[in-house]
Amino acid sequence: MVPTCNASLREHFTVHSLPEAADVDALIAQVGARIRGIAGGKVSAALMDRLPALEIIANSGVGYDSIDVVAAKARNIRVTNTPNVLNDAVAEITLGLMIALARRIPQADRFIRDSGWLGRQYPNLGELTGKTVGILGLGRIGKEIAVRAQGMKMRVVYHGRRPQPREPFLYYDDLLAMAHDVDWLVVIAPGGKETDGIISRAVLEALGPRGHLVSMARGSMVDQDALVEMLGDGSLGGAALDVFQSEPHVPEALFAMENVVLSPHQGSKTVETRDAMGALVVANLQAHFAGDPLLTPVA
Ligand code: 8YV
Repeated sequence: MVPTCNASLREHFTVHSLPEAADVDALIAQVGARIRGIAGGKVSAALMDRLPALEIIANSGVGYDSIDVVAAKARNIRVTNTPNVLNDAVAEITLGLMIALARRIPQADRFIRDSGWLGRQYPNLGELTGKTVGILGLGRIGKEIAVRAQGMKMRVVYHGRRPQPREPFLYYDDLLAMAHDVDWLVVIAPGGKETDGIISRAVLEALGPRGHLVSMARGSMVDQDALVEMLGDGSLGGAALDVFQSEPHVPEALFAMENVVLSPHQGSKTVETRDAMGALVVANLQAHFAGDPLLTPVA
């Protein structure tokens, strides 16, 4: 939680910080019976059971796959998230990572830093202009990515659970078919059981040696072993990865690959956006305890 959010939480509530606790179990044993709200994610049914007075979980993030929402509902615990306020930040870095991968920007920087430019040529590379990008998940963030990709003169198509007739982009009802047809595949659908492993080896094969994967949502959605193997042997062209299967662990095999750009799950991690997410977390908690409607409920 960012300092502005922490300060605001402490101003309005009595706060016990699990992340700062030397002994989490001891803290829960000491104050668990009095905890009525949680600010932040990663809440299992087992944790809920240790907090019998819990009324609300205000998740800091739009994705709430780290919260057992079914268990929360069964216990009459409300859940909120932070949609919309992070759309621009995530869309911005998605395009940034795409350009970084197409033009090998991190590698170009290292090229000069490591041995200087004198007497050496940097290779000619690909560009986004004129290419087709397929967006998996044309939700609030996906739409912001789509308009920015159009700004880069890309053709935009998409796949999701259902077509959105008001959107001007071609809809694929089959992810595999879309992966086959696009140069870039951006993954920005919600994580969770429904999308677990959706970027399978078959999807990566359809994307192929000239295709690029941009993984912005959850590492759980991608067959990471297949990804690493295929990037290594060139059967997948490249990948820009902001999320991983078991963060903060990143497969070391990726470190030496020139066709990869790595990013430490920083989609929404700007000062402006994290402040806005924190403010929404606090606003949801305040609304709940004032008996007002929640601003952004998910359950
Ligand atoms: C957060 C995210 O980093 O909003 C999301 O779903 O992935 C990120 O903005 C994550 O939720 C942890 O706070």
